[in-house]
Amino acid sequence: MNNTVYYDSSVSDEQRRQLLFEGQLFVYSPRKSTLAFIEHARRLVAEAFAPLSPETAQYHMQVEQYAKILGKLKPSFIHHPESKVHLKAILNDFGCDLEKTYFDVPKMRSSTSDKYLTTGIAYAWHPHRDTWYAAPMCQLNWWIPIYDIQPTNAMAFHPQYWSAPVRNDSEKFNYYEWNKMRGPQLALKTKEDDRPLSKPTVPIEMDPQIRLLCPAGGLILFSAAQLHSSVPNSSGVTRFSIDFRTVNYDDALAKRGAPNIDSASTGTTMRDYLRATDLANLPDEIVELYDDGTSDRGAVVYRPAEFDEPAK
Ligand SMILES: [Fe+2]
Repeated sequence: MNNTVYYDSSVSDEQRRQLLFEGQLFVYSPRKSTLAFIEHARRLVAEAFAPLSPETAQYHMQVEQYAKILGKLKPSFIHHPESKVHLKAILNDFGCDLEKTYFDVPKMRSSTSDKYLTTGIAYAWHPHRDTWYAAPMCQLNWWIPIYDIQPTNAMAFHPQYWSAPVRNDSEKFNYYEWNKMRGPQLALKTKEDDRPLSKPTVPIEMDPQIRLLCPAGGLILFSAAQLHSSVPNSSGVTRFSIDFRTVNYDDALAKRGAPNIDSASTGTTMRDYLRATDLANLPDEIVELYDDGTSDRGAVVYRPAEFDEPAK
């Protein structure tokens, strides 16, 4: 197959979803809606690290203290009411039908330089497909850098694996069990990370790989089935980025999406998505299409209020 990167493409959302399901990548220049979102994110990041500069704060504090700051900053971004407003504006700006587009809450990620903190709250991602973590095959991932990125702190795609299965242990991953393990204890995992995160069980050929560099506020859009990883950050600055995922109602109903060539994860993230217009969940009939009878193994949805008790 060919790999095409569509740059500032004007194709419709429908065509774009189809191309993404075929393994193509889309990258967009910053727009008013994405710039407004990163400005909001930058404000929260700056407040959290003040008076230090967020991109270099890692060089001025103990890693435990740093993880504690991230442990507060990230949930505050996720649950900030303004975050959802920005997300809706972005989806509208990118031509999505808001009545049919469902999103999950936006996450803030950080990638510290020089292996300062690569576990827990700032996990450095090994090559993976999000579909190994119970994402449906129709899920799309949206990724926005909050500050300018470089080849040495970007995200890498491994498109030679789009149609080549990778042996992995995703059969051990159940989304409902995972929901029980999530929470504030992540900030305490500053040295090792023992969470059961689906991984390749064979060596991955890391090259050739694609690193897309868009300016801060630019957008990278890819299928949840795309194999991707964090580039080991050697840039000298911490990378901060935002990502969120979407599902289109028609795709979900028709079970349209990328081909599943190697994922065996169980459970489904379908209960997490919120309709862009009114934050309604996907209807039960849709969720049922993706449920696999494992809901008694844990929590079908992650409820931060239940788990995110402030550290005592
Ligand atoms: Fe991912």
